[in-house]
Amino acid sequence: MSVIITGSQGQLGCALLRLLPDAVGLSRQQLDITDVKAVLQILKPLQPKIIINCAAYNQVDLAEKEKEAAWAGNVIGPENLARFAQDNSCQLVHFSTDFVFGQTPEKHLAWSEHDHPEPGCVYAASKLAGEKAVMKTAPEHLIIRTCGLYGTGGKTNFVKTMLKLASQGKSLRVVDDQICSPTSVEDLATAVVALIDAGAKGLYHFVNEGEVSWYEFSRRIFEFAKLEADLSPISSEDFGAVAKRPEYSVLDCAKYRQQTGKIIRSIDEALQAYLDKVTRS
Ligand SMILES: NC(=O)c1ccc[n+]([C@@H]2O[C@H](COP(=O)([O-])OP(=O)(O)OC[C@H]3O[C@@H](n4cnc5c(N)ncnc54)[C@H](OP(=O)(O)O)[C@@H]3O)[C@@H](O)[C@H]2O)c1
Repeated sequence: MSVIITGSQGQLGCALLRLLPDAVGLSRQQLDITDVKAVLQILKPLQPKIIINCAAYNQVDLAEKEKEAAWAGNVIGPENLARFAQDNSCQLVHFSTDFVFGQTPEKHLAWSEHDHPEPGCVYAASKLAGEKAVMKTAPEHLIIRTCGLYGTGGKTNFVKTMLKLASQGKSLRVVDDQICSPTSVEDLATAVVALIDAGAKGLYHFVNEGEVSWYEFSRRIFEFAKLEADLSPISSEDFGAVAKRPEYSVLDCAKYRQQTGKIIRSIDEALQAYLDKVTRS
């Protein structure tokens, strides 16, 4: 079966290519998904049965200034792939974010696929619009919402950044009023394959089990890596990020577990495994 991975040099693209060595990976240089002609010219001869779209515009704060670029990467690009999938009878696997939720301060219950999304920033709105474009256009779609990815491929991630800043002796102020479930990209890639193998269609949530604030997650990074760090909590208001983030965006993964019969590693287990890998290399 021919599988294409777009955005193959990002974190998830790299993890999926390691799991699916026969898949064809297309980097941004090889295929810009916003270019509708290139999508047709490059994908048609490859005759894919499954396209796994790992390409995305992920610059949450910059998106407030670059709305067009966010929309191009997260809506127009996925829509181009969805149209190709529709016309060529192939499946489109696409990814979205926990940021589509969490603007209801009183709700502290994990969000299910049935809950009503309410994006609070441009990035989140673009990801939600991308989901809708894929759902509307590609009859055979699988959309997976996830959160706070970290892994060994791609440019950077929260864990790498924390380790780097701490090793430079920097003082770290990390928000303690945004609660979510940071997720190992290796676990997400395994979950993608499990969902495809189980014939899953439609919308799913996948994150590592449990919930933490970003401050608590950072504390665990340093504890597990046995690193001293000058770390303290700060409120989102005092931190003053440009884009509004959700207060509570934990995702309920019951549908994933039911569909695949798989268990999900905890945030701690997945983080420890990642740190063991990066601190050994
Ligand atoms: N990272 C997270 O914390 C997080 C959280 C929730 C959901 N997600 C979603 O999970 C999926 C995978 O994320 P990730 O962390 O693997 O992302 P990533 O590491 O940022 O990788 C995205 C890749 O897409 C490429 N790309 C950007 N625009 C493109 C375009 N127009 N055409 C082709 N390629 C393009 C990027 O290339 P350049 O580097 O050259 O721009 C990069 O290689 C995305 O849908 C993302 O929105 C991620």
